[in-house]
Amino acid sequence: MRHLISIEDLNKDDIIRILNKSEEFEDVALGKRRSRILEGKILANLFFEPSTRTRMSFETAMKKLGGEVINVSAQEASSIAKGETLADTIKVVSNYCDAIVIRHPLEGAARFASEHSRVPVINAGDGAGQHPTQTLLDLYTIKKEIGRIDGLKIALVGDLKYSRTIHSLIKALTLFETKIYLVSPPVLELPKEFLEELGGDIEKAELDQIVGDVDVIYVTRIQKERFLDEEEYRKVTGSYKITLETVKKMKESAIILHPLPRVDEIAVEVDYTKQAKYFKQAFYGVPVRMAILTEVML
Ligand code: NCD
Repeated sequence: MRHLISIEDLNKDDIIRILNKSEEFEDVALGKRRSRILEGKILANLFFEPSTRTRMSFETAMKKLGGEVINVSAQEASSIAKGETLADTIKVVSNYCDAIVIRHPLEGAARFASEHSRVPVINAGDGAGQHPTQTLLDLYTIKKEIGRIDGLKIALVGDLKYSRTIHSLIKALTLFETKIYLVSPPVLELPKEFLEELGGDIEKAELDQIVGDVDVIYVTRIQKERFLDEEEYRKVTGSYKITLETVKKMKESAIILHPLPRVDEIAVEVDYTKQAKYFKQAFYGVPVRMAILTEVML
C-alpha cells in the first residue's frame, strides 16, 4: 500500500514517472478521451480545512476516470462533532473506500491517519507541514510551460515560514539541478532548522536583485490562519506584491506560479500577461491527481 504523505516519500524517478503519467491523462482531463480506469473504486475526501481546488480537482480526477467520491463535509455534520477521534474516523472511513484524501490543520495528521488506515492515504495539506500533490502539479506546470525543471532558477516568494506548498516544493526542487532563491519578509523566512536539512543550491535574495534572471517566480499567500498572533499577521500583510512593473523586469520566457487562493500578492492586471500561469497550474491539478490516484489505487 502506498501512502503519499510527504514529498520525501518519492524519489526523483517516482516524481518523473508521475509527471509522465500526468501527461498521458491530460486528454482525459480535457475531455478529449474517455477512461474508466478507476471504475468501481471509491475515494473518500476528508477535509478538515477549507479547500476549493484541491478537493474539487481530486473529485474531478476521480470521476473522469470512472470512479466515485464520498465526502465528509462539514465537521459539524459528522461524528467528529460528537468527539470522535481522528484515529476512529479513519478506521471507519477506510472500510468504505479505496483511498483517502485528507486535509487537516495539524502538522503530522496525515501521517497519523495513514497509521490507522486500511487503504492508501494522500496528504492534501497538514497544517504548515506538507502538500505533496500540490508539489507534483507545480513541477508538472514548470515542465509543461518551460519544457524542463533541471537548470532553472526559481524564486520562492512570500510566506516561506508557514506555506506547506513551499515546504514540499523546495524539497522536490533540491532533487533537480535548480538554483533556488528565497524571497520573504524577515518574519516569514523559511525556518532555520528546515533550511539546514536541505541540500541544494539555495540562497536568500531580494526580488529586485533576481527578478530579471529567474525562470520561475512562485508566489504564496500569507497563511493568516497559521499565525498565533493577529498583530503579527497585520504587520506583514501587504508586504509584497507582484505587479506589472515586476513582470516588465522578468525574462520573456519566465513564468509566475501561485498555488492559489490569491489574496493581494499578485495584482489582477498581471493575470493578462503571458508570464501568468497560475490558472493553468490549477487546471494541471486534474491530470496530475489522476496520475496520483492511479498510482495509489491500482
Ligand atoms: C494551498 C494550501 O492549502 O496549502 N492551497 C492549495 O492547495 N492550492 C495554499 C494556500 O492555502 O495558500
